[in-house]
Amino acid sequence: KKWAMLTAYDSPTAEILETQGVDWILVGDSVGMVLLGYASTVDVTMDEMIHHAKAVRRGAPKSFVIGDMPLKGVEKGAKQALVSAKRFLGEAGCNAVKVEWAGAETLETVKLLRQHRIPVMGHLGLTPQTASKLGGYKVQAQDVQSALALYQNAQKLESLGVFSVLMECVPFPVARAVTRRLQIPTIGIGAGRFCDGQVLVFQDLVGLAKKMSPRFLKRYADLDSVAQKSVGRYIKEVQSGKFPSVKNSFGMNETQKKVFEDSLNGR
Ligand code: KIV
Repeated sequence: KKWAMLTAYDSPTAEILETQGVDWILVGDSVGMVLLGYASTVDVTMDEMIHHAKAVRRGAPKSFVIGDMPLKGVEKGAKQALVSAKRFLGEAGCNAVKVEWAGAETLETVKLLRQHRIPVMGHLGLTPQTASKLGGYKVQAQDVQSALALYQNAQKLESLGVFSVLMECVPFPVARAVTRRLQIPTIGIGAGRFCDGQVLVFQDLVGLAKKMSPRFLKRYADLDSVAQKSVGRYIKEVQSGKFPSVKNSFGMNETQKKVFEDSLNGR
């Protein structure tokens, strides 16, 4: 069985995912770009992540929810990351956290979290929090040296006890080789079909976030068009007086209406 993972940042979305039986829900720091209007994920704060993670937990009480550690929650080192991870589990009721690879110091962070028995998912390949150091939002591990480095980092994470490794924008032969060699499940986004599971951003999947169209994305609906048309029709109907109709209004029984009108008229 392959694992189906999706992001959620709010309660109604989480409820849809749980109803449909998604395997894992990720409260991604992509919330910064998708919902909060930031230019990248680096500005997302821990307080914002906790706010969204709590909403997701309320909407999906039974699901396995993973809190994505934002840069601002880990940049000061392992001890800060431990505090952040404990907030995800303690305050927001998450089951696990995801940590983006940011160099060898990530191993210290993961080691400390695992010493505290915190379930951790690793994130390799394109790591948006450090994208500026990777030459932007580009496919990673395209040459032999960086492909081997990715594999070795995946192995190190596995040996520290992460329960899964997510690979973002990695050529499929590399993702396939890593998947075959690790014992833990791999989750791919732009990493091809040989990973043990896949993740997409919910808003991308349903066509609500249409600014970017990476090759790996499959849109299953065009909710943006539905929303645009609905809002347009609502504005026209309000402005022309068509909405609300009697059907959308509350009445009053005749006696109450008469008493009310008499009172207004001073009778
Ligand atoms: O923040 C996010 O949404 C992610 C993606 C890999 C799905 O990390």
